[in-house]
Amino acid sequence: MLPQFSNQTTLVIFIFIGDKMAEIINWDDSYLVGFDEIDEQHKVLFDLYNSLLSVYRAEDRVEYKAVVNHAFEEMTSYLEYHFSTEEKIWRRDEAIFPEHRKLHSGFVKYVLQATANDSDFESLGALLDFLSTWLLDHIQTVDKRQFQELREKGLL
Ligand SMILES: [Fe+2]
Repeated sequence: MLPQFSNQTTLVIFIFIGDKMAEIINWDDSYLVGFDEIDEQHKVLFDLYNSLLSVYRAEDRVEYKAVVNHAFEEMTSYLEYHFSTEEKIWRRDEAIFPEHRKLHSGFVKYVLQATANDSDFESLGALLDFLSTWLLDHIQTVDKRQFQELREKGLL
C-alpha cells in the first residue's frame, strides 16, 4: 500500500529507502478507465515519464542536469494539467471530489518539493521510481474505481 500523503514524514522515509532503480512503464489495457480523454492523457503521462527516465539514464549527455530538469518540468506541468482535467470530472460527485483532489495536490506538492530541495541525482532515481509506482497504483486503483462509481451513478 502506498502512502496516502497524510504524513510528510512517511513520504520522506519512503523516498530515502526507495533505492530500487526506476523502470520503464508499459501501457496496457488494464490501465484504461473507460473515459477517452483521461485514457489519452494517462498514455501521454506514460510517454512523458519514459522520456524523462531515458534522459535521466543518459548520463554522458552534455548539459545533463538541464536536460533532465527540462524533462522533469514537462512531466510535472503535464501532471498538473491532467489532474485539473480529472478534477473537473470528479466535481460531478462531492463524495469523490475533495478526497481525490487532496491525493493529487499532495502528490504534486511532494514531487515539486523533492525536486526543488534535492539536486542529488541518486535521490532523483528514487523519486522517479516513487513517481511511476504512485502513478500506476493511482490509475489502477483510485481512478479506475471512481470512474466506475461515476458511471454507476449516471454521472458520466
Ligand atoms: Fe486521479
